[in-house]
Amino acid sequence: MIAVKNNTFHISTRRTSYLFGVDEQGNLLHWYYGARIHEDGLAFRDFARTTTWSVYAPDDEEHAAPLQCTPYEYFASGYGTFYPGSCSIRNEAGHNTSRLLYRSAELVKMAEVSTALPRALNPDEVFKVTLEDPINGLQVVLYYEVFSECDIIVRSAVLKNNGTQTLRLDRAMSLTLHLGEDSFDLIRLCGRWAHERSVIRTPVGQGTLSIGSLNGESSHEVNPFFALARPHTTNMLGEVYGFNLIYSGNWKAEVYCDSYGALHIQEGIHPESFLWTLRPGEMLETPQAVCTYAENGLNTMSGNFHRFIRRHISRGYWKDRKRPLLINSWETTYFDFDEASLVRLAKSAKELGVEMLVLDDGWFSTRNSDHSGLGDWTVNTNKLPGGLGCLSERIHQEGMQFGLWFEPEMVNPDSDLYRAHPEWIIAAQEYPAPLCRNQFVLDFSNPAVVDYIFESMCRILDSARIEYVKWDMNRPLTCLGSTYLDADRQGELAHRYVLGVYELLQRLTKRYPKLLIEGCSGGGGRFDLGMLCYCPQIWCSDNTDPFERLVIQNGTSYAYPVAAMGCHVSASPNHYTKRASSLEMRAAVAMPGSFGYELDLGVLSDEEKQQIRAQIGQYHKTYECIHNGTYYRLSEPGQRDFAAWQFVAEDGCSSLITVVFLKPRRNLPAGRLRLCGLEEQAAYRCGEENVLYGDALMNFGLDLGDPAQIGEVRTYYFEKQNTNKNRKED
Ligand code: DGJ
Repeated sequence: MIAVKNNTFHISTRRTSYLFGVDEQGNLLHWYYGARIHEDGLAFRDFARTTTWSVYAPDDEEHAAPLQCTPYEYFASGYGTFYPGSCSIRNEAGHNTSRLLYRSAELVKMAEVSTALPRALNPDEVFKVTLEDPINGLQVVLYYEVFSECDIIVRSAVLKNNGTQTLRLDRAMSLTLHLGEDSFDLIRLCGRWAHERSVIRTPVGQGTLSIGSLNGESSHEVNPFFALARPHTTNMLGEVYGFNLIYSGNWKAEVYCDSYGALHIQEGIHPESFLWTLRPGEMLETPQAVCTYAENGLNTMSGNFHRFIRRHISRGYWKDRKRPLLINSWETTYFDFDEASLVRLAKSAKELGVEMLVLDDGWFSTRNSDHSGLGDWTVNTNKLPGGLGCLSERIHQEGMQFGLWFEPEMVNPDSDLYRAHPEWIIAAQEYPAPLCRNQFVLDFSNPAVVDYIFESMCRILDSARIEYVKWDMNRPLTCLGSTYLDADRQGELAHRYVLGVYELLQRLTKRYPKLLIEGCSGGGGRFDLGMLCYCPQIWCSDNTDPFERLVIQNGTSYAYPVAAMGCHVSASPNHYTKRASSLEMRAAVAMPGSFGYELDLGVLSDEEKQQIRAQIGQYHKTYECIHNGTYYRLSEPGQRDFAAWQFVAEDGCSSLITVVFLKPRRNLPAGRLRLCGLEEQAAYRCGEENVLYGDALMNFGLDLGDPAQIGEVRTYYFEKQNTNKNRKED
């Protein structure tokens, strides 16, 4: 709900309040974000502190609001604040000062923006607030979109030049927010290729903590999600604010703790290597920033994000549909396959219950290694003499669907495309362009490049029955330069590149609405809300070792639902870590995800094949509970001697708990595990014998029993008993 009273704006969701308003000088100021409250009688000036060093606007005769600590809702650099602005402009005189004042506020049906950036769908309400700098003509329209049931507020800004001179924007964040107290920990998801999204938690002290990516994608190194939690906050208890960005390019988040202990938070497009020219009448739209607040722990914050993504980010044909259980050829054959071996693989997979074969890298052009062929999207007829049409038919005859790998944004120097269009790569022309994985990045700011790749992909997709595309992206953007953009637009390249990627995704999803696209970037280098608007699932990591996947998927679960995570059972010993693990553990870890297999089924024993049949049975039985239920982290890897997680089905009638032992259980404390999200008075049956009450399971906990081996898995599937079997109140 959005209430407007005396120039105070109160946005409320089911359990949160967000308050901001206009002061006497016309500044738009942030008042409060947190647990839901009544605003009547609040003293909104409590932030103001006066010191001898304070800077005041000349119209602030009473010295009510020292500029350096004023919590502006959105402000431009230069007018007296001691930390970077939400935006920053330079006018034709070369000056970097701007002052945004409140103009108007109104409820609108929808944000008046283009379709260039992906956005969250179907907000309950949209609130529009307009600010303006009357001197240089900069107008900023702020949008607040409310998703009440998910306790999510989404913010974005549109910056427009309403003046007569050219303005240069070197900073345009999506979100500025202020928390008036200290003692918060910053939680973020960090790592590197094959080790994405481990949870890092550090206290915030005076100064700036910043995270971000300059890779041209959201990156393996750190994810655009972050949280600010009270020091005592755990998965089950305590206050936390969570943030994310619906964007897949260079991004930055900053938490500045001022000398009074107040936090100033910003997130948006990374200002480094960003310079946007706004000629009179031109505008720039920022990506949407997503905010949530939870009073009772990190699991609730994650639950808010999960619900929001499932309902408002996922879209189209696959939004609520069960995804096909697939076998992927990459770790099965790498580049070494032909039609006969793929058909054999499809046949053996089908016998076990797998539903789709995905042909990964190596099916096109001269692609027998990663040295050549990218950009030339024509079939390699040495490997597939009958073409994709013939292969796909044979796969379908086996009763399987068919999926195909592309890496649309890239080109190898050894390719016909590069030989024909060397000017189509991203490169600062005066330097030799660096290679990474033997490839260059195509300049997607150039519409001719996007058109060419769209047509090449359509030719392939029209040539065969292809139900799924794995969209890969295997190198960062460096040496930014475009032969398409004018010199004064070169600073726009990184953002325009991302807009080009979205444009191609939009055109493909429009033309092939039933196509399931899985995102991928050398594993999980572009795991973000922008890509999730087009790809309902994203390959989590190239590291498929279940011990390491526990850490990667645990971190990913802070911000993203399991349905978004591509997770496969691969071979043992693992190709990357060389570590052996049981088939049981590999399946238990991959099952809370978009599940599949990625190993040579032909070499498995009959016993292993029988195990896979049983796993697939279990997958179908628990699919609803896992994919549409509520997820709880019960014990994170590294916290106790086991990792454990729980799903509670949407209707509350069942709950699945998985425990994986990570240390030998010798001379260790009792393995009791407290569950979450059950009905206190309800009885739950697990197996034939075991009936336990919700209150006991959530307070006393589940006894994990005898010591187990490292990697041993326990799963418990509780079903709620009929109401008449449930305990009566005394
Ligand atoms: C990187 C991906 O993450 C892998 O799964 C695989 O598709 C390779 N690229 C293929 O080159």
